[in-house]
Amino acid sequence: MYVGALLGEHADVGEIVAWCDTNPGRIDYYDAQAGGGLPGYSPGRLEEMVRERGVDVVIVTTPDLHHAEMVDRALRAGADAVVEKPLTTDAEGCRRIAAAVAETGRNVVMTFNYRYAPRNSSLREVIASGAIGEVTGVHFEWALDTVHGADYFRRWHRDKANSGGLLVHKSSHHFDLVNWWLGDVPARVYATGALRFYGDRAAAARGLGERPERGTGVTGDPFSLDLNADPRLRALYLDAEHHDGYRRDQDPFAPGVTIEDNMSLLVEYAGGATLTYSLNAHAPWEGYRVTVNGTRGRAELDVVERGHIDLGENGEVVLDPSATPDGAGTDDLRPQRDRLIVQRHWERAEEYPIPDGIGGHGGGDAILLKDVFRRDLRIGGDPLGRAAGHLDGVRAVAVGIAANRSLITRMPVAVGDLDLGVSLEDDENPTTHHVPAAP
Ligand SMILES: NC(=O)c1ccc[n+]([C@@H]2O[C@H](COP(=O)([O-])OP(=O)(O)OC[C@H]3O[C@@H](n4cnc5c(N)ncnc54)[C@H](O)[C@@H]3O)[C@@H](O)[C@H]2O)c1
Repeated sequence: MYVGALLGEHADVGEIVAWCDTNPGRIDYYDAQAGGGLPGYSPGRLEEMVRERGVDVVIVTTPDLHHAEMVDRALRAGADAVVEKPLTTDAEGCRRIAAAVAETGRNVVMTFNYRYAPRNSSLREVIASGAIGEVTGVHFEWALDTVHGADYFRRWHRDKANSGGLLVHKSSHHFDLVNWWLGDVPARVYATGALRFYGDRAAAARGLGERPERGTGVTGDPFSLDLNADPRLRALYLDAEHHDGYRRDQDPFAPGVTIEDNMSLLVEYAGGATLTYSLNAHAPWEGYRVTVNGTRGRAELDVVERGHIDLGENGEVVLDPSATPDGAGTDDLRPQRDRLIVQRHWERAEEYPIPDGIGGHGGGDAILLKDVFRRDLRIGGDPLGRAAGHLDGVRAVAVGIAANRSLITRMPVAVGDLDLGVSLEDDENPTTHHVPAAP
């Protein structure tokens, strides 16, 4: 996404000057797209890269476990950082980034693309307008289907040490949305969850027999991903495997999965609202439902990203329907749609218009990229305060980190006890976290 932006729409404001990756095969793949000849560095030489190439900004898109180290080292080497979600996977990563920002005074941009999806921005607008009054609670359900959901169990994400589990890796998007919709910060979290569908033990308990170790070469099995079937996946992963041994097509039911696939949370917000949240990673359809209860009424956002999974003749499916909207098939009963309903006390329900989004993640990606690359032009003119910094990143992962602790202790966890290195209520960007008072 960032390479495409810098070679396309935003080429006039930014230039790719170097690559940094553990895998030379993937460097070569993107270097060829950029015309070839840009230098590639191993992560151990990040500082050298920043110095030699005069790097202004390092865009961090490594597996989550390395985000904190890369951001810290980039800032200390003299560059700013743009970092993919989640900010980091644990409290130590939060402390490391917070210290680097405090000690260098440099800037970290957190790319929360979901905020920019028009449907999510519209809900923020409704809440900020005061139409439903003061928010007392949010009910939020996210369903990942057996294609996109299963993909987390094939890749590096399947190991909790790499991703922090889906409560950090995936749900940090969702917790950021709630934090931002409410203009509030999480205070206490109780979580329950388990691996009930993917992984070898759950599969064996259901009587699932012998499985292939990897998807490539397998046909007619919807849980297998054949890297040869997609030229991009083949070039980026299969052809680059000999460099590091990383397999992108592991069987989701193979041993080694340490993340959960069913999760439920209760979150108390500092301002008094409650969030009930659930994430399921093996649903037959993909999308989410959010209900926001307020003192003057209620808002309900319903999003269907893929109503069902169409298995083609050759078993080919689209991995992430939100990233590539054209890949979602049609479904009469559960059509692909965004619907935002607002109903005030003593009134009929009304549909709140959602502007059309074009492109990945509900249209969020294109607008986000403008904020990343043309930030100075947009920030002042965005009353929704969509641009996010590292503090927003900490606020979002705080819920997942607390939830992961709660899964172990089976007790509620106070976010203040996590020692995240910052106070969540500190705010260097007041537009992001202050919703206007209800009329
Ligand atoms: N915002 C979104 O919607 C969204 C969508 C997809 C991915 N992401 C995020 O992007 C990041 C990358 O995900 P992905 O799916 O592209 O993963 P990926 O495995 O395809 O790519 C990760 C890359 O990092 C490289 N790498 C590994 N360790 C490294 C290190 N120490 N230093 C430098 N490079 C290293 C790998 O070789 C690989 O090229 C993740 O943090 C993920 O959460 C965000």
